[in-house]
This record gives sequence, C-alpha cells and structure tokens, in this order.
Amino acid sequence: MNVQTPHSADATTVEEGLARVEAQAEAPFDSKAATDLAMQNTLLTPRFYTTDFDELDAIDVTPVRADWDKLIDQMRSDPNKGHFKKNADWDQIDWEGMEPELKAEFIDFLVSSCTAEFSGCVLYKEMKRRGTNADIKELFSYMSRDEARHAGFINDALREAGVAVNLGFLTREKKYTYFRPKFIYYATYLSEKIGYARYITIYRHLEKNPEHRFHPIFKWFKEWCNDEFSHGEAFALLMKTDPKITESLTSRLWIRFFLTAVYSTMWVRDHARPRFHEALGVDIDWYDQEVFRKTSEIARQIFPVELDIDHPAWRKNLDRMNAAFLAMDRARAQGGVGGWFGRMTAGARAARAFAGLYLIPVKRNEVPDHPRLEPAY
Ligand SMILES: [Fe+2]
Ligand SMILES: [Fe+2]
Repeated sequence: MNVQTPHSADATTVEEGLARVEAQAEAPFDSKAATDLAMQNTLLTPRFYTTDFDELDAIDVTPVRADWDKLIDQMRSDPNKGHFKKNADWDQIDWEGMEPELKAEFIDFLVSSCTAEFSGCVLYKEMKRRGTNADIKELFSYMSRDEARHAGFINDALREAGVAVNLGFLTREKKYTYFRPKFIYYATYLSEKIGYARYITIYRHLEKNPEHRFHPIFKWFKEWCNDEFSHGEAFALLMKTDPKITESLTSRLWIRFFLTAVYSTMWVRDHARPRFHEALGVDIDWYDQEVFRKTSEIARQIFPVELDIDHPAWRKNLDRMNAAFLAMDRARAQGGVGGWFGRMTAGARAARAFAGLYLIPVKRNEVPDHPRLEPAY
C-alpha cells in the first residue's frame, strides 16, 4: 500500500473516511462478484435501513444526561483513531495457496461483515446529516466515523485477495428497508452488542489458540469490538429515555421477536460456513450459543425479557430452521416445478421452526435504573 495515501483509519469524520476508502483503491476498486454478494437482499444477508429521521431527531436525552455525557466524552476522545490500518502485525497471507472452500467462505464472511459495517455507516451518517438535535447529531457523527473505518479496513483485507466491495455503488443502488425508530433501536442495539460478542469471543479463543489465527485481521478484533460495545451503549441510553420503548406489552413482544430473528439468522448463517469455523478451531454450535449467552447477559441492561437459550426446544428448533434453509437451497438449485414446490415446503418448515423458537417461554428481567456497562469479556 502507498503509505502517502491518507488512510480511513486516521479520518476524523465519516465523509473524510469514505473519501479515503475510495482513494485507497489501487487495484480496480469494484469487484463485481463481491459487490453482487453485498447487493443481495435475502433473509440471511445484511440489509440497509432507513427510518423516520425526524422522530429520531426529536429524542430528548435529558433523562439519561449524566450517563450520556460520559459516553459521548469517551467517543469524542476517539481512542481508536489510527487503529484500523495495516501495520507490522499484519502478516502476509498466501491467498492463492488457501484451500478453495476456506477461501470462498472467508471471503463471504468478509464481504458480509463489510456490508454490515457499511450498513451501520450509511444509516448513522444519514441521521447525522438530517438531524438538528445537537446530542443526536454528535452521537451519530462518531458512530458513522467508526463504521466507515471498520468497513474500510475489511475492504483493505479483501483487496489483498483481489476483491473489494464497491461501497459507493452499494449506497446508491442497494435496497433500503424501512424500520420505524423503535425497531431501529432494537435491531441496531442487538447488532452492535452481538457484533461485540462475536468479535470478542473469536479474539479470546485465538488468544488461547494462536495457531488457528489464519488471517491477521483477527488481531484487530479487541479494539474493534470495544467500538461496537459503545455503539450498543448509546442505543441502550436512547431506549432508556422513554420507558414505553421497552416496557409496554407490545414492545416486549417485539423485543422477543427481534431477539428470536437475530439469533436464529446468525445460527443459520454461521452454519453455512463450516470450513471457516473449522480453520478457526471453533465448534459452531458452541460459538453461537456462547455469543447468545454473552449478548443476553449484556441485554439485561435494557431488555425486560430474555430468551431461554437453555430450553430443550431451543436447539431443536434452531437445527430444524437450519435444515429448512438447506432444503431451500437444494430446491432453488433444482429449479422447475419440483424446485418451486420444494421451496414452498422448506419455507413452511422454516416458519414452523421460527414459531417454535418464538413460543418458548421467555425469562423476565428487572431492568436497572442506570443501564451503562463496560466491556467485560
Ligand atoms: Fe462496526
Ligand atoms: Fe457499530
């Protein structure tokens, strides 16, 4: 890489970061296969979101002011400025020599992570741009800054493999899913906290088993997950400004729905990458349950309900859901009338498995008055 080029890791605003991501490209920036993958809108691929920005902008953080100011001070101090770029710790990877199945799954993992990071970036940047509320604008400027760095760094890694996601193209062309602000809180809070739990679990595992660290990017996961952790904290505080957002009966039902959807999607997605997890030395069942456990523990800070992931019906229905998605893939490959029929049946099986997960009795939490947590895993 040309050391003269300013890097997104040093950018202090999201605009600067994104401009640098584009400028960093040496090889042809757009890699069609990777961008096509990132453009997909299926149940399992990361989506782009839009919301009612005016309603979000109208939030008053006065009820959580003390905690809010502390968190914003920490984000303003920008502890990870300059972190997300290659340095001497970045080992050279023999992409050509990598076993093809592993390579395909790993690239799929990187593209999907990059899309998810960038999805956060786009949403937060839009909130910053449209907002008039100084508190909200400042928060979203820091969060979009961080996500631009994360996405840019993954693209650095992808570029070495000869692929890159065209982020400008995605912004313009990818379909945006509308969620009302309340759902944005649940979905982004969960994705930030689950992101933290995923990154820290892999990081700790590789600390103990460094022989499985087959790519240098995992060395960056600790600081990375701390960014995600504080983003999640911000959403916890936003939800805390108004008890209705989490405490009403319908809110509880929706939180339960989002928890079930996010956890079960992660299960199916991770199980589609057996070689990747094998290379990491990670048992997927163990890893996913561990991530659910950490996320559920953290979410007690704000969610009044918690899924019972030790219930006997939990694993059984997750496995059913996974089997249904595999059957759907086979039916899609088959095509024709038989394929269509197969897809419908598999869809019904997936829906039944989802209902089975959703209907497991939930545990109730006594939510604390002050939600703030520090990363502890
Ligand atoms: Fe991120
Ligand atoms: Fe984040």
